[in-house]
Amino acid sequence: MASPTRFPRHGSAGIAVAAILLCACVAAAQPAAAPGAKAPPPAPRIASPGDVIATRQLLFHLSAATFGEMKAVADGSEDVKPLAFGARGLVRWSRSIPAMFPPGSLGPNSRAKPEIWSNRADFEAKAAAYQAAATALFDVARAGDKPGFLAQWEATSKTCTACHDLYRSDPPRPATRG
Ligand code: HEC
Repeated sequence: MASPTRFPRHGSAGIAVAAILLCACVAAAQPAAAPGAKAPPPAPRIASPGDVIATRQLLFHLSAATFGEMKAVADGSEDVKPLAFGARGLVRWSRSIPAMFPPGSLGPNSRAKPEIWSNRADFEAKAAAYQAAATALFDVARAGDKPGFLAQWEATSKTCTACHDLYRSDPPRPATRG
């Protein structure tokens, strides 16, 4: 008759005892938490350079969508007043551009050129030119001035290109991203 498989019972018990003792020692080493005390809140997560890059790319993407669509609407409609809302969004975004390019926020996922930081005053002047153009675009939209809107749309578009020519690299970032 084959003998039944024997399990090393003593060995297991020894490990269990050792584990209990270890737990007791670790528990003793911890400062006792006051009964009912809440766990401390997790440390706030600070935006990393990668977060800043992704956020500004998103804002450029959305602002370009707004900007392009407003031209299509203006071409096909007599009423440009509703476009003031989108133009106001461009003004707000243009003001934030310098802050969205903190030092060190460049890398393989970004088309930002290092000249943004070595020519900082000029980069900020380009953002200010965009802001002035977008503000004028808002004004003509609010005034319901369609010819004025179309002319100012072209002028605003030139301020995009003026910055991209110097401070945005080609080719486009990889198409695998959103
Ligand atoms: C002051 C400089 C500046 C101005 C003004 C500017 N851009 Fe850009 N733009 C950049 C830079 C730099 C990048 C690259 C950002 C990156 O990849 O980190 C960029 C990226 C973009 C992108 C690509 C976003 C993506 O998905 O990665 C689009 C689209 C774009 N801009 C459209 C526009 C349009 C439209 C305007 C004007 C209405 C404009 N930009 C004005 C500097 C500017």
